[in-house]
Amino acid sequence: MLPENFLWGGAVAAHQLEGGWDADGRGPSVSDVMTGGAHGVARRITDGVLPGEHYPNHEGIDFYHTYKEDVKLFAELGFKCFRTSISWSRIFPRGDEREPNEAGLQFYDDLFDELLKYGIEPVVTLSHFEMPYALAKEYGGWMNRQTIDFFVHYAATVMQRYKNKVKYWMTFNEINNQSNTANDIFGWTNSGVRFSQFANKKKALYQVVHHELVASAMVVTEGHKINPDFKIGCMCSFVPYYPYSCNPDDVMMALESMHERFYFSDVHCRGHYPAYAKKEWAREGTAPEMEPGDEAVLAAGTVDYVGFSYYMSNAVQSDVEVESDGVSGGNTHTVPNPYVKASDWGWQIDPVGLRYSLNTLYERYEKPLFIVENGFGAIDELKPDHTCDDSYRIDYLRAHIEEMKKAVELDGVDLMGYTPWGCIDVVSFTTGELRKRYGFIYVDRNDDGSGTGNRYKKKSFNWYKQVIATNGEDL
Ligand code: BG6
Repeated sequence: MLPENFLWGGAVAAHQLEGGWDADGRGPSVSDVMTGGAHGVARRITDGVLPGEHYPNHEGIDFYHTYKEDVKLFAELGFKCFRTSISWSRIFPRGDEREPNEAGLQFYDDLFDELLKYGIEPVVTLSHFEMPYALAKEYGGWMNRQTIDFFVHYAATVMQRYKNKVKYWMTFNEINNQSNTANDIFGWTNSGVRFSQFANKKKALYQVVHHELVASAMVVTEGHKINPDFKIGCMCSFVPYYPYSCNPDDVMMALESMHERFYFSDVHCRGHYPAYAKKEWAREGTAPEMEPGDEAVLAAGTVDYVGFSYYMSNAVQSDVEVESDGVSGGNTHTVPNPYVKASDWGWQIDPVGLRYSLNTLYERYEKPLFIVENGFGAIDELKPDHTCDDSYRIDYLRAHIEEMKKAVELDGVDLMGYTPWGCIDVVSFTTGELRKRYGFIYVDRNDDGSGTGNRYKKKSFNWYKQVIATNGEDL
């Protein structure tokens, strides 16, 4: 059995659903200058908000105005928790102010109150791909050490404000997916930088990440002073690399590739950089600049739990060198895994990989884990009677929940909860599409922004409701 207080819920991020991009004093964020794309068509990052361009995040699904009706649907699903993020630029429109925007703070007070009214625990990410645009444009984003102060000030402001409403926090969403420096959207959304503009991309990566890791550790320490009951976690995208074969070179290639994943969570959890990182810096001349005291800050601010997303696995072959597609979580040695199928967007579907990931992370860190994203992006058809048969999503989630339960019940993993991604349809991060849907709730909105915006329950809605009601026993 899963623990009685298991946090079943759903996950979203402010920039992908709120809309209201310039409402009530909000400033533009890095996501507001990203155009719509498609599978195989990259989103462009424009120099400011330009006329004639389509920016899907500006409208999202208009949650800024519809949150009450949407939260009511989450309550009907029986959610115990709801993971969302705070839009930094709603609170500090440019990012460098000392005084927050009261209207922005009020919005999250209202949202959290609405959730708590139904007994739904908010789970809040502080930075989910949307730093204020001014910080990226004028300060150079996280390349600039000053951004640490801006972020810590922002985090302390919201933690103080919501200290009696929010207990579960995460610092940076998928901090590690920027290790894919081949596609600019990752560095841009994580750190407000474009790695393509740096001669040594790896060095640039390690520098911005160092600033973020220091900032995260400071926020953990600061947060615990604000409320000792806070649980403050990290959030990493966990796409395990399997060896393609038992050829020892493939096995070693997989182990080395996993360093790309662990680099971030190792510091978050253990409070210091791992030995393989230091060797790599020395070999490749990529060591980040640090200030005296940084190491002590990292050591003091280790996280309370490990939040992670799991969508897919990857396989690597040592004697293959390919160009990464930049969005499917692989590297230049990634090859298709013949034992698993892939989604329409090329993401390899591997439920057993979730049990594998839970074990890997728990054995490594022995900290509570929280699956804060998992899900199946697909094209759903809304029938004329407003029903939607998304049985394929039920199959995906059921298979993953089964493996998750094995990790808890058979392997003894300490798991806090499960929040499938995009519990209501939202704008896709990598493509900016609406047609790549994950939700239990269908939102009548199209890629070009047309549609009524009406919400309809998909077949998976009642299925997930039953899953939660039986604490995962009736799948
Ligand atoms: C994760 C992000 O990368 O995966 C989410 O934290 C994102 O923001 C999700 O939406 C799914 O990716 P996509 O590109 O299908 O929306």
